[in-house]
Amino acid sequence: MQVVLNYLESRQQQFVEELREYVSHPSVSAQSDHRADMQRCADWLAAHCRDLGLQVRVHDTPGHPIVVARTPRRRGRRHFLVYGHYDVQPPEPLELWSTPPFQPQIRAGALYGRGASDNKGQHWAHLKAVEAYLRTGTELPCDLTFLIEGEEEVGSVSLESFLHRHRKELACEAVVVSDTGLPARDLPALTYALRGIAAFELVIHGPDRDLHSGIFGGSVHNPAVVLCQLLGRVHDSRGRVTIPGFYNEVEPLTAGERQQLRRLPFSERAYRKLLGVPALFGEAGYTPNEQRMARPTFEINGLTSGYQGEGSKTIIPAWARAKVTMRLVPRQRPATILRRVRAFFRKHCPRSVRMEFIPGHGCAPYRLDPAHPWARAARSALERAFGRKPVLMREGGSIPIVIRFKEILRAETLLLGLALPDDNAHSPNEKFDLEVFARGQRMSAWLWQELAR
Ligand code: BES
Ligand code: ZN
Repeated sequence: MQVVLNYLESRQQQFVEELREYVSHPSVSAQSDHRADMQRCADWLAAHCRDLGLQVRVHDTPGHPIVVARTPRRRGRRHFLVYGHYDVQPPEPLELWSTPPFQPQIRAGALYGRGASDNKGQHWAHLKAVEAYLRTGTELPCDLTFLIEGEEEVGSVSLESFLHRHRKELACEAVVVSDTGLPARDLPALTYALRGIAAFELVIHGPDRDLHSGIFGGSVHNPAVVLCQLLGRVHDSRGRVTIPGFYNEVEPLTAGERQQLRRLPFSERAYRKLLGVPALFGEAGYTPNEQRMARPTFEINGLTSGYQGEGSKTIIPAWARAKVTMRLVPRQRPATILRRVRAFFRKHCPRSVRMEFIPGHGCAPYRLDPAHPWARAARSALERAFGRKPVLMREGGSIPIVIRFKEILRAETLLLGLALPDDNAHSPNEKFDLEVFARGQRMSAWLWQELAR
């Protein structure tokens, strides 16, 4: 192991330079303008993996390419999957970035750029650990397959059917994913639960074109007003969702679990400051960590209607549209929740407008028993690399394919996140901490030893 660790230590600068090049690809999966960039990014990644001596294939899909890179198989070794995604969230609003999102720069011990921590830097740590084994001629204790996709940020639709089709070659003991967070640079975490998600869009159609609001206003229902009224019904003043049945399947938090979450470091003041809000707000009766990790939510992600340009324009808009996602917790299912939500809006939508409900992507929540043997192995790898026992935590974010690994490959997922709370995932000025990067590589190097035992 010392040879492997020495290799890692001596190559940090090179790894950061490579990561900088990786992050410079504008691989934005949500925007069709970036289709060619997605392909270029996948090809770049594949070429890099080939240089390391991995067996690589880039699979075309109806969406974005999937990169599969495997270590040469050895009889009798256990096989693990390392999952990551090379797609990134849209970088907008661009004016809030201190340096351009796809011209990554190093400042104060971190690499800044869209995708630096979510997720390019995190799976780069695993790739570099494997490189250390391969380049030093140290025998890898396990067979590994890197599965790096390009649609995680838009729901992993192509990967799901890919898993079905490649079930045999992807069969594995467990999946390792670094795409979540850790509380602090020197406090590693094993995440044992993720929230699920259910997405939809709600469109309210009014007149067949924008109308003069002076000539017609007062005699037709304004779709923007109707949309606001409908959405305004969803929460009560205590932060509860009022949609009938929304909480039906939700598993109550156990006393043990609440205690576990209370052990996480948390300062309300620091949290408020980090987010830039005057006060916190959430479902009454739950702590902020419970609210964001273990309770379901209904969030408006985008709201559009009428004139948004310079100056004023007096119209009644023809339509109003909201993009919504709900986070789900164990036992909630996207399809059931979407059905209840649609029924709620149908019931309350006035007949003076036409309502359109467009269901989107979704995935069920995930949970792993932290005492599972693989989880124990992961915890000791984290402890070796960070020099400190990891905390056990849940995360509020979603990784849609994780539940599919369980359903399709019958494999549990180890969530070993490397993103700091202030890494600005999905926000302007996303960054990846270079100290965490180095520790992540060591964690990965140890992990294969621990999992092989
Ligand atoms: N890396 C995140 C997921 C994440 C972040 C989990 C922080 C836990 C803590 C991932 O890239 C992500 O953003 N996923 C999306 C999935 C969605 C678009 C289906 C999410 O959670 O919004
Ligand atoms: Zn993300």
